[in-house]
Amino acid sequence: MADMSKLLEQARRAAEASYCPYSHFRVGAALLCKDGTVLTGTNVENRSYGLTNCAERSAVFSAVSAGKKEFAAIAISTPDSAVAVAPCGACRQVLSEFARAEFPVVFAGRDQRVDTTLGQLYPFDSLQNLKNGSRG
Ligand code: THU
Repeated sequence: MADMSKLLEQARRAAEASYCPYSHFRVGAALLCKDGTVLTGTNVENRSYGLTNCAERSAVFSAVSAGKKEFAAIAISTPDSAVAVAPCGACRQVLSEFARAEFPVVFAGRDQRVDTTLGQLYPFDSLQNLKNGSRG
């Protein structure tokens, strides 16, 4: 069972590396791999705005680049927000490439924490359905 509080603390620390000169909104993500290693990521903005990479995708791309594709949980921290900020649609789609509906997700701001799953955040996903054997 993943220690989600510990993972969240790692995400909060990862947010300190954020490159966010346009939004001034730091985001950190910590991705726990099934082998126990944790890869972190942060948001990396760009002056073209649209090329910005979210913390969650940075963590996934970093993990895959390190040869890891089996994930156990993810934590996301937004220390510049009092409320918890959920991962964006693009990040949900990217997570769904590697994780099933039961995959634990925690996201937290300074005063709010939400513990949920990828299936709750991204229901009726076609790849999830295939992985869960509900098609064909
Ligand atoms: N951001 C993330 O990194 N992850 C999210 O789930 C929400 C948004 C970043 C993108 C941008 O750098 C900043 O937060 C403001 O939207």
